[in-house]
Amino acid sequence: MRALTGIKPTAVPHVGNYLGMIEPALRMQATHESYYFIADYHALTTLHDPARMRAHTREVAATWLALGLDPRRTTLWVQSDVPEVTELSWLLACVTGLGLLERAHAAKAARDKGLEIGVGTFTYPVLMAADILAYDADVVPVGRDQKQHVEMARDMATSFNVRFGEVLRVPAPLIRDEVAVIPGLDGQKMSKSYDNTIPLFAEPKVLRKKVMSIVTDSKGVDEPKDPDACNVFALYRLFAPEADRDALAARYREGGMGYGHAKQALYEAIEARLGDARARYAALLAEPDALDGVLEDGAGRARAVARDVLARCRDAVGFRPTPRGVPR
Ligand code: TRP
Repeated sequence: MRALTGIKPTAVPHVGNYLGMIEPALRMQATHESYYFIADYHALTTLHDPARMRAHTREVAATWLALGLDPRRTTLWVQSDVPEVTELSWLLACVTGLGLLERAHAAKAARDKGLEIGVGTFTYPVLMAADILAYDADVVPVGRDQKQHVEMARDMATSFNVRFGEVLRVPAPLIRDEVAVIPGLDGQKMSKSYDNTIPLFAEPKVLRKKVMSIVTDSKGVDEPKDPDACNVFALYRLFAPEADRDALAARYREGGMGYGHAKQALYEAIEARLGDARARYAALLAEPDALDGVLEDGAGRARAVARDVLARCRDAVGFRPTPRGVPR
């Protein structure tokens, strides 16, 4: 089974990205043939700052590697290093109705607010379908917010196949339910757009300060507390080993423990889990040539797959094979 997913290099990854997406995807390395990429074409729909594009692309790559992506086993590359996906997105656009794109959440939300969206944003789901279909992915591990996009990719693959034969593999989304919503500092879903994130590789001091700023209710130290209604505990349970989780839950219920204590425990649990990765992350960023080498190698492997799929697609629609003389 082949798993494929992408992350946009629009910001430095945060704890919500890690728990919701990166960590589950990394665990799939053991069971799946994994293809993970950095979605810079998609980032370009909103990020028009070349220095940040470059920096975030490296940061996302270093994040994957620091957290345990094994580049011998998993193919890691930058989306725009394989221009075949833009070619496939055109083929898909030609079998996709306007209605499908108009129903996309992002397009609808913009329209409801009376905003005009860019053409890139409107056709974002077509490019995303091309990403998935160009690599014959079986499953696409994503957060709940991306489920519709994967379903649209299925629709496009099916439309293409109905017209041109069984050419494209129809993928399925894989949503990890237990951690589908990771609370941020204010208790809303952790998201860059709510400005409530915990950075993944913050220095200990910064991390501690962030954790201490998590919003709780105003129960006093003595009062019994409900772990299941607390943002601090919701994060703690995702970071701490099970035995520690149960122990802290019991202390919540007993009373006599303040939220400051729970926050300290959370800080320590995050530090225990991510401290070593933070050091690896810094080392990777300090050696950009080695990082680029990993990405080049990944691009070569990814591109070989995409070329084969595109060759099938071009043939199916009646195009000539890509001429040998065309530099690619
Ligand atoms: N749209 C995804 C996001 O915002 C990123 C992405 C781009 C992606 N192409 C993809 C995810 C293909 C999975 C598969 O997070």
